[in-house]
Amino acid sequence: MRKIYIFDTTLRDGEQSPGVNLNTQEKVEIALQLERLGVDRIEAGFPAASPGDLAAVNAVARAVKNATIVGLARSTESDIEAVREALKGAEDACIHVFLATSPIHRQYKLRMTKEQVLETAERAIRYAKRYFSKVEFSPEDAGRTELDFLCEVTAMAVRAGATVVNIPDTVGYMTPQEFGNIFKTLKEKVPGIEKIQLSAHCHDDLGMAVANSLAAILNGADQIEGTINGIGERAGNTAIEEVAMALETRFDFFQAKTTLNLKEIAKTSRLVSKLTGMVVPPNKAIVGANAFAHESGIHQDGVLKEKLTYEIMSPETIGLKASQLVLGKHSGRHAFREKLFDLGYENLTEEQINAAFAKFKELADRKKTVTDEDIRALVEEKFVEVPEVYALEKLAVTFDSEAGPAATVRLKTPDGVRETKASGNGSVDSIYKAIDELTGEPVELENYTIKAVTEGPDALGEVHVVLRQGDVSVQGRGVSTDILEASARAYIQALNRLADKRKMPARSRRDKITLI
Ligand code: KIV
Ligand code: ZN
Repeated sequence: MRKIYIFDTTLRDGEQSPGVNLNTQEKVEIALQLERLGVDRIEAGFPAASPGDLAAVNAVARAVKNATIVGLARSTESDIEAVREALKGAEDACIHVFLATSPIHRQYKLRMTKEQVLETAERAIRYAKRYFSKVEFSPEDAGRTELDFLCEVTAMAVRAGATVVNIPDTVGYMTPQEFGNIFKTLKEKVPGIEKIQLSAHCHDDLGMAVANSLAAILNGADQIEGTINGIGERAGNTAIEEVAMALETRFDFFQAKTTLNLKEIAKTSRLVSKLTGMVVPPNKAIVGANAFAHESGIHQDGVLKEKLTYEIMSPETIGLKASQLVLGKHSGRHAFREKLFDLGYENLTEEQINAAFAKFKELADRKKTVTDEDIRALVEEKFVEVPEVYALEKLAVTFDSEAGPAATVRLKTPDGVRETKASGNGSVDSIYKAIDELTGEPVELENYTIKAVTEGPDALGEVHVVLRQGDVSVQGRGVSTDILEASARAYIQALNRLADKRKMPARSRRDKITLI
């Protein structure tokens, strides 16, 4: 099998994303997760950039045992010395030296001739070779460098002792055909090219970083550089997880694989997102929240019958539990029925399921995503009697502008009829405090909404509450011409649901498809 080496630069190029700043501890945490993911090389930072970066690279170098740790250096002795210092204690170390080679960079940034570029780079590679057996050289902005000059630079790097020559499309300007052609030409024209590894380093300014990296592989690249979630300078770098999954899923086409532990992809993505603060867009390939979610009825029906209809990869491959069928207005009867089953409503008649489905469609027209709680409320309101563990027997609320509000509540409880009086921050709060005292249920009021359901002074008011106990949340609804009574009834209904839920058997099945 042809192996493609993965060089992860999340901690260096990824950290160059605007607004991202990782401290040493965070860098080590990410590096250890990258090690679990099984990347071959980890570029931990740019030690000459600051003493803090040098210390962080050193901490990573000492913590990671199963990947080569790389430090970046410009083509100067002081940068190389900084990397030497930073990589002390590494199990396996590599220096990454770079110098720009394109006409634009030579003329405006470096103010160097081609000869000066060749000379400076050669001196730097030879200097680095004194300390490191593994030296990677990057002709920065290789994509916009004259191809014959790039061949000359690469030949020089091979002679000077580089073990990897990395071809960066620094500004994300290349197309896959052009970028692939660079690798083909280097392979054909550079003497001694077989002695070193060729690497691709792409940026995503035109959205082609992954395609360009794959084109490089098709034309002989041994290594791909990239970041987790594709973070990085400007539009970011090649997303490693996308390259790995493209190779895995289309092995028939690429005939090459990484040795990544693919099951760690989702976890690594979440960690990088959390510590960098860079949110993964829901529609991002492989690791976006919607990457394995199906909403349309036709797709859900297909996936429930046979996953291969709409899934080219399985979520389990990247360490996710299962596909998700999101219930929304495009969902069909099949997914809805599965959801009911999933929630434990296994004994509804065909007629009841149809009636609930009609109600669900009405609700989905008004709400983007219908939650489990919405479905429970919808089914229970119509077909399921919630046993009355608690029942309101009396409610009296007083308000005194000096003493504030107070509520007296009498409840039927499993321990008999009980009554108490409580005061809170307002009449509703007083009622809820009194009920809490009587039931002893440790609940949190997550949501409270009130609306008029009819018109006029005798309008019916409807109160809706969501209560949470641990990781269980329940809804309650109360209707009355008096909003305080409606509030009490909604709260008590939610408590009854909670009591009922505690009696419900654990979810009966469904480990394959999770519906949300
Ligand atoms: O994009 C780039 O050119 C780089 C180099 C330092 C390799 O990140
Ligand atoms: Zn870069």
